Amino acid sequence: MKLLITGGAGYVGSVLSNLALQKGFQVKAVDWLWFNEQIPLQNYSNPNYEFIKGDICDKNFTATLFQGVDFVIHTAAVVGDPASKLFPELTTKINYDASLHLIEQAKQNQIKGFVFLSTCSNYGVANDLATEDTPLNPLSLYASSKVDTETYLMEKSGDLNWVIGRLSTVYGLSPRMRFDLTVNDFTLCGFKDKKIDIFLPESYRPYIHTFDLSNILLTLVNQFDKVKNNVFNIGFEGENYQKIQIANAVKALMPETAINILREGGDKRDYQVSFAKLHRFIDVKQYFNVEKSVKEIHEALSNGLIPHPEEKVYYNTSPRF
Ligand SMILES: NC(=O)c1ccc[n+]([C@@H]2O[C@H](COP(=O)([O-])OP(=O)(O)OC[C@H]3O[C@@H](n4cnc5c(N)ncnc54)[C@H](O)[C@@H]3O)[C@@H](O)[C@H]2O)c1
Repeated sequence: MKLLITGGAGYVGSVLSNLALQKGFQVKAVDWLWFNEQIPLQNYSNPNYEFIKGDICDKNFTATLFQGVDFVIHTAAVVGDPASKLFPELTTKINYDASLHLIEQAKQNQIKGFVFLSTCSNYGVANDLATEDTPLNPLSLYASSKVDTETYLMEKSGDLNWVIGRLSTVYGLSPRMRFDLTVNDFTLCGFKDKKIDIFLPESYRPYIHTFDLSNILLTLVNQFDKVKNNVFNIGFEGENYQKIQIANAVKALMPETAINILREGGDKRDYQVSFAKLHRFIDVKQYFNVEKSVKEIHEALSNGLIPHPEEKVYYNTSPRF
């Protein structure tokens, strides 16, 4: 089975590509390498892997990508509220316009299924446990670009079968590491600065590890007939955490870490999410949790595997071009 993974060199896309290869999929990864040009090299010697460098905003380029492809997993985007604030025009162009022509081309090419990576940020602030039917409340351009693409996929994609995954905030190691995500960021702050700054410490969000996420996405592809044309919150029960709980997990490992509560910050997202629907449809094991991942990130930092974590490549607000 051949997968076209857009954003295949990204934080999620590179872990997903690796796991897909391990599970016997053929992978065609596409990326314009906004952050790190080295990522695809790790798989070049695998005959089931193909990397194509290019911009998904270029319709003529994307039209050439579908030959032999069974499923598209569309991860490429301007990702995160801060990056979308810095690059608003690009956010609309990549996250919405390019997604629309990819959906249309997938339809023309009679692809078996289109998996769209959306976000639980779409819930914004929710008082009750958010299910897939909870009204959406996007608080940023990033989230509204995802909501608009979801709407197009649900209402205008015709014969194309799809799955929308509303992802929890991701954590854990990746060949394209990100240190602008809460768990990774707090672990680095504990390691490097011995201090974690938190705004709205009691606010909740759901979290998921890169590996568990990739495993779920590939399970959805493998069981596509059962899951198609559904929206799923992607995560596990028990993985809704308050920010202070994540800081405490870091402090448990690095007791000298000071936790500093800020009066102002900006990120007001506060929601807990139900994953009951996903786990009614598929049976998938959870391998990681926040505590375990804080340890793996700490170990990678201690072993010097990421010698300069402050470098721009690890932050989505500092692309190379
Ligand atoms: N990381 C999270 O916590 C999180 C949470 C919810 C949803 N998501 C979704 O998961 C997906 C992947 O996120 P990520 O954390 O891996 O982000 P990322 O920024 O690491 O990866 C995105 C990749 O897309 C590529 N890309 C961007 N624009 C492109 C273009 N025009 N042409 C070709 N490639 C392009 C980038 O070079 C990058 O490698 C996104 O769709 C995001 O909205 C992520």
